[in-house]
Amino acid sequence: MYRRRALITGASSGIGECMAEQLAARGWDLVLVARRADELARVAATVRTSGADAEVIVADLSTSAGIESIEARIADESRPVEMVVNNAGYGRFGKIMELDAAGESNEIFLNVNALMRLSRAALVAMAPRRRGAILNVASVASFLPFPGFTTYAATKAFVRSFTLALHEEARPHGVRVTCVAPGYTPSGFQARGGLSSTAGQPSFMLTSSAFVARVALDAVESGRALVVPGLVNAISARFLSLMPSGVQRRIGAYFSRFTR
Ligand SMILES: NC(=O)c1ccc[n+]([C@@H]2O[C@H](COP(=O)([O-])OP(=O)(O)OC[C@H]3O[C@@H](n4cnc5c(N)ncnc54)[C@H](OP(=O)(O)O)[C@@H]3O)[C@@H](O)[C@H]2O)c1
Repeated sequence: MYRRRALITGASSGIGECMAEQLAARGWDLVLVARRADELARVAATVRTSGADAEVIVADLSTSAGIESIEARIADESRPVEMVVNNAGYGRFGKIMELDAAGESNEIFLNVNALMRLSRAALVAMAPRRRGAILNVASVASFLPFPGFTTYAATKAFVRSFTLALHEEARPHGVRVTCVAPGYTPSGFQARGGLSSTAGQPSFMLTSSAFVARVALDAVESGRALVVPGLVNAISARFLSLMPSGVQRRIGAYFSRFTR
């Protein structure tokens, strides 16, 4: 039986790990990408129990060499990739003056540059086949300037804008492009970004990694351009989109209290 193959970046934990498990259950084979070989091996072993083939590629996508290695894998027509999920990303909480400049550059390189390059590589490979899908992970933070999470929110605004434009560019080629904008989701993300806990975060705004993964993959299947998992997050995003920029800034400043 023919099985489609999806490549997921950031597949070693959190949302990417859940996407790997759910795609395997939906009958996909997988290419799992991240830096931690041991965690990737663990995820690969899990998805193989669902009958999926799992290839592991250890790559640091905050380096040019790492990006180029995944571009080459996407371009390999002998083992075609029919879905690329650009999920790897992180955000550092803190005021910009207190964060080191190199770390902020690294965040932009991963969240923006790697995502752009791998989206482009995917479209170049998929367009001649006239099928395929690209799923890019933005954030509810893409809808507002977010003091204390300043660079991260800006990178995710890029992801949302870029992905929505790509949706239109890809449509005539038969390639689906979807942006998922999750809200606050407990995962490795908080510790990685320097947030001590989810304490203080309104519980009605929390979503699980498994829920985000399911909503995102359903959105890809139905060809949606943008999806915000969770009713409260979806309403908030719509509301924020309609607000004048001064109100958006104040709301961002309010939420920045949860980033300490
Ligand atoms: N959790 C939230 O509240 C939330 C909300 C909105 C959006 N998001 C977005 O959701 C995506 C997934 O995050 P998550 O919540 O699942 O967090 P997570 O558990 O920390 O997962 C992040 C993944 O990215 C990988 N990664 C990080 N740096 C990398 C690099 N330089 N090269 C390759 N892979 C790298 C990590 O693997 P290695 O460490 O093994 O490399 C890990 O697999 C991110 O884009 C994040 O911005 C998260």
